[in-house]
Amino acid sequence: MALKKKKIVIGNWKMNIFTSKEAVKLVEGIKKESIKAKNTDIVVCPPFVYLADLKSVVSKKVALGVQNIFEETAGSYTGEVSAQHLTQFKVSYVIIGHSERRARGESDTSISKKIVRALENKITPVFCIGEASRDEQGEYLSFIKSQLVVGLSGVSKMQISDVVVAYEPIWAIGATEAMNSHQVHEMSLYIQKCIKEMYGTMVMMPRILYGGAVNADNAREIVDRGYVDGLLVGRESLKVENFVGIIKNVDLIK
Ligand code: PGA
Repeated sequence: MALKKKKIVIGNWKMNIFTSKEAVKLVEGIKKESIKAKNTDIVVCPPFVYLADLKSVVSKKVALGVQNIFEETAGSYTGEVSAQHLTQFKVSYVIIGHSERRARGESDTSISKKIVRALENKITPVFCIGEASRDEQGEYLSFIKSQLVVGLSGVSKMQISDVVVAYEPIWAIGATEAMNSHQVHEMSLYIQKCIKEMYGTMVMMPRILYGGAVNADNAREIVDRGYVDGLLVGRESLKVENFVGIIKNVDLIK
């Protein structure tokens, strides 16, 4: 029998929250209010500048992530941050290949290197994939497949279960409505099928998340009926009440 994976809710703060005080208050609030959520891993991904302050605030309960790393290990790369910089701050997750970064020129090849760098440093990569639009012929499915094939090209069969795959249809990010749970389920099955084709049917599946316009009202339905292992949350991760509302609803799922 396959081992049941713990659910996970990841908050991507993006380029928001502008003081350390606010950042610390947000994480402390999440910790306090989610104390009863026993079945769900919680991750916050603030901007890099808050890592030093948040290092002592995060816990086993609320883990620390970042929103990007550089694809190389060290050297003359002005302005970049290496995975190796992050281990001292107790960073255990990194979002890689978010569509907002892809839109600014990040390629599948660069993403694949970043995933390898994260794994080398024992940081869990949260590998984002998703189509910009849908077409009648289902071309978007081949697009998703090629994102998976190139992005995961440096990940071995032993490592694949250490990756988190976040499916985020670009049209749902920042939108008013999330994708419906039926479509989420279809995509989760499709991603599993692609991973089996790549690694064999006996592979230990990575956790598969959904992201895009998630809130406390739709979170439970998306995870429960969409059969995903958790959620990647943008806007609704910036207020304790909203983010914890999502966590509590996901935690209710058996
Ligand atoms: P949103 O963003 O929750 O604000 O739609 C999701 C994301 O970008 O991951």
